[in-house]
Amino acid sequence: MALRSMGFLLTFLVTEGSMRNDDFPFYYLGTVPAWRDLGSLRGTQSPHQFDKGKYHKQLKELDIEHLYQSISKLMKDSKAFWPADGPQDGDVASYAGLFERLAWHCSGTLRVVNGTATGGCEGARQRHWPENEWRDNTNLDKARGLLGQVKHEFGFQISWSDLITFAGTTAIKASGGPAKKFCFGRIDDVDGKRSIPLGVEGVKECRGNKFCKSNFECPIAFRWPEQDEDDHSQCNLTQPDHRLQASHSVGLIYVYPEGPKLKSSAKGFAEKQVHNRSPGLSALEVRDTFKERMGWTDRETVALIGGGHTLGRTHGNCNLTGTKWASHPYNDVGPFFEAQAGSLRGPTDGTCGKGASAGLAENTVSSGFEGPWARTPSQWNYDFFDAMLAEDWEPVKSPFGADQWRTKNRQSTYASTMRLTADLSLINDDTYAAIVKEYAADHAKFDSDFADAWYKLVHRSEDNPNENDLERKFGICTHFEFVK
Ligand code: HEM
Repeated sequence: MALRSMGFLLTFLVTEGSMRNDDFPFYYLGTVPAWRDLGSLRGTQSPHQFDKGKYHKQLKELDIEHLYQSISKLMKDSKAFWPADGPQDGDVASYAGLFERLAWHCSGTLRVVNGTATGGCEGARQRHWPENEWRDNTNLDKARGLLGQVKHEFGFQISWSDLITFAGTTAIKASGGPAKKFCFGRIDDVDGKRSIPLGVEGVKECRGNKFCKSNFECPIAFRWPEQDEDDHSQCNLTQPDHRLQASHSVGLIYVYPEGPKLKSSAKGFAEKQVHNRSPGLSALEVRDTFKERMGWTDRETVALIGGGHTLGRTHGNCNLTGTKWASHPYNDVGPFFEAQAGSLRGPTDGTCGKGASAGLAENTVSSGFEGPWARTPSQWNYDFFDAMLAEDWEPVKSPFGADQWRTKNRQSTYASTMRLTADLSLINDDTYAAIVKEYAADHAKFDSDFADAWYKLVHRSEDNPNENDLERKFGICTHFEFVK
């Protein structure tokens, strides 16, 4: 791939060396380089760090419509380093799904346990180690790199955490989806230290320049009685040192998409099936993560997953067969692949390709699943629930070998769409299934519930734990009146 064609992200990385003399050279990079590369800035406050008071004052001058238009334009401007999705599924090119996932993964770190909130997007710690290398966050460095263009345009008029959450909301709105309101006022963190309660024991070692892991088993774990003993385990909610554990391992903080594998003696196991992932057991994991760890109701859970998996698609991996990364394509040791001056690499860019094209475009490591959930993944639609109910789904392997599902009827109008086991969990649990049926029958109700849940998702954080805190404190909000 020609260097010139790789666009904006690469330009930033290439020129980073020449910007090192600036006070804080990396502020508009979507990913801040490893601690060891920050030299004397390590552990210090950047002179450019937001002055909270100043930021909130100047937010009053923010041209929100202009920001919305800049993001909408960027959303359709496909770059070679990660071509926008759509065309491969017969739709228009769009980064809508990518931006929505970015905002969700940034905000979805929120854990509410015993009434106390930890995490959330405020702080934008996803730009820093360790979150930038969490296995769940693969490929989101590309999204942040894209948004760097808007960050550069608006500079300190907009914090990264406001930008990331607003970009996700804009992606939904500009694709024809529901968004009722958005409020600004989030302040960025200078490092990833506050991610530690989510489970990164190795962080102290990382400071000493040793490798530390961002994807490993948690100390206290269990398997479901019907689950295969070789399958991934589920982490208990609390762990040593009062750490709130991610659901499956450090770095995989949401729900295991493939779902639990049934053991051969379990009811429902079918020898001849391509895989024996259990949507029923997966529902237990979805509830454990969304309700017990994140504090969502069942209704909010269904609305969020359905709205999340309406736009965008899953992405297979580059081919790692025969390489030392074949069994662990994610960057589970680090800081190692983080963007370093002159390395031309982002944090999730380590495993495929060489030199300037490493980790970009077809050399990207992503989830390993393949396909969209909907027939029009760039435009808001109702396929997620409609197809889930209308079709029978059969187990299938993605080209990368991941366990997923496709329509049994290969002539179906939905034949090009896919489902994860975690998606199908929503029709394999009585409470979830009743809500799925309601949403399939009443799309307006789904839109409204999704918009409310999304608002709550992107507005709550450790710093502002109630969904209306930002509005109450700063009052810089939009109802998107300018969108025709
Ligand atoms: C059970 C919970 C969930 C699981 C297991 C899950 C899993 C996944 C996986 C495996 C991908 C593919 C990533 C890739 O290959 O690029 C993905 C993509 C995506 N997810 Fe989820 N997800 C969940 C919930 C959500 C929620 C709650 C939202 C938003 C509210 C969301 C929004 C998205 C979006 C927009 C994409 C498409 C990304 C793109 O087009 O690049 N997901 N999800």
